[in-house]
Amino acid sequence: MGSRTPCALVVMGVSGSGKSTIADHLARRLGWRYVDGDQFHPPANVAKMSGGHPLTDEDRWPWLQAIADEIDRLSAAGERAVIACSALKRAYRDILVHGRDDVRIIFLDGTQDLIAARLAARKGHFMPPGLLASQFGTLERPGTNERPITVSIDAPVEAIADDIVSQLNLVLQ
Ligand SMILES: Nc1ncnc2c1ncn2[C@@H]1O[C@H](COP(=O)(O)OP(=O)(O)OP(=O)(O)O)[C@@H](O)[C@H]1O
Ligand SMILES: [Mg+2]
Repeated sequence: MGSRTPCALVVMGVSGSGKSTIADHLARRLGWRYVDGDQFHPPANVAKMSGGHPLTDEDRWPWLQAIADEIDRLSAAGERAVIACSALKRAYRDILVHGRDDVRIIFLDGTQDLIAARLAARKGHFMPPGLLASQFGTLERPGTNERPITVSIDAPVEAIADDIVSQLNLVLQ
């Protein structure tokens, strides 16, 4: 891999790509902490979203910075985490990674048709029509200079986790 063992894996992708599912599974498997990036939204963002208003990038900067701060905090404490965060734009990911070679991006790659089918089957979530298309419109696929670990989501959860772990070349205890 040519760099330090990661302290944080950022699992990114559009809504319904499986971030929560895969990050939680991977965290259990590695014995690392699972972190839901949405927990770091400031109260103003939570209020805005629950009122049905989309966030602007200006709203997002403090949220992303809070996740970056959490990465520094857990790294300093000797902890490791798998973080679910959509991180659709390069500028968002640059804040999360902030030049650390021990923060790695895991990109969940799948077609709009596959993800739409999974969202339609997902329980307990309402997905406004058009949101998935707008997520694909916003998505900036990670470039090679971000050293992403890209995995196809057209596979069972266990197989996706296998793919990530083998790409990371982590030594599992
Ligand atoms: N590999 C998979 N095979 C089959 N179903 C999957 C797979 N991964 C995730 N799912 C299912 O797809 C749905 C979406 O997954 P999940 O909620 O983890 O996505 P998400 O990226 O966290 O979405 P959001 O951005 O809305 O939080 C869930 O119902 C989940 O159980
Ligand atoms: Mg989720």
